[in-house]
Amino acid sequence: MISLCSNIEKEFNEIASTYETNRLSSWYKAHGEIILNVLDPHQNGTILDIGCGTGWLLRQVAKSYQNIKGIGIDISSKMIDIAEEEACRENIDNLSFIKCDWEELDLSVLKGENINTVVCASTFHYFADPIRASKRIFETLTKGGRLLLLERDKADSILTHTWAVLHRFLIRDHVRFYLSHELIQFFESVGFSDVSIKRKLKKLFWKRKFYTSLVLISGKKP
Ligand SMILES: C[S@@+](CC[C@H](N)C(=O)[O-])C[C@H]1O[C@@H](n2cnc3c(N)ncnc32)[C@H](O)[C@@H]1O
Repeated sequence: MISLCSNIEKEFNEIASTYETNRLSSWYKAHGEIILNVLDPHQNGTILDIGCGTGWLLRQVAKSYQNIKGIGIDISSKMIDIAEEEACRENIDNLSFIKCDWEELDLSVLKGENINTVVCASTFHYFADPIRASKRIFETLTKGGRLLLLERDKADSILTHTWAVLHRFLIRDHVRFYLSHELIQFFESVGFSDVSIKRKLKKLFWKRKFYTSLVLISGKKP
C-alpha cells in the first residue's frame, strides 16, 4: 500500500502554485460556485472548508458575507501557503488556515469556533476512513449546523467508475469514489438529519473537462 498522506500532500504541493490558473481551475471554481449558490444569505458564524486548497471558495465567502469567519484546512503545506498569501493580498482578514490531515487533526483546536457550516468540495474521496471522517465533521459542527459536500457522482460516470477501479487495484491508495446513497448513509450513520441531494450536475465538455458528473449533498446536525 502506498503511503497516502505523503503522496496526496506531494501531489497537491506540486500543483499548488498553478491551481488557480491551470486548465482545471475554472472547473474547480465552478464547483465552488455551486456551493456558494446554496449558502444562506443571512449566514454568520464560522464556516470550515475541509480540503480548502488555495482558499478560493473561502475568499469568495469572506467577500460576500462580512459576518462570517472562515477556517480552511488542507493536508498540503503549499496549498495553505498560497491560501494565506492570497487572502493577505486581497486584504481579507477574517480567514485562517491550518495545514493538517482532517483525519488526524486534534479537534480541540476548533473548540469554541461556532462552526455552523462545513463545506467539503472534491476532497471526501481522499479520506481513508469515510465514516470516521464524517463523524469528525459531525462533532465539529454546532447544533443546527450544516454540512455541504460536493463529490463526483460515481453512479452516472463511467470515468469515475474507471478511476475508482484504478485507485483500488492499480494505484492501490485510499482514494475511493462513492455512490450518492453510500455518501448519504455515511452521514446518516453518524447522526446527521435531513441528509439529501441538493443538486446533481451532469455536463459534457464543460469548463475544459470532457465529462462532469457531480452531486451536492447537505445534512444537518440536529
Ligand atoms: C481536488 S482538491 C479540491 C480543493 C478545493 N476544495 C476545490 O474545490 O478547489 C482536494 C484538496 O483536498 C486536500 N486533501 C486531501 N486529503 C486531505 C486530508 N486528509 N485532509 C485535508 N486535506 C486533504 C488536498 O491537499 C487538496 O487541496
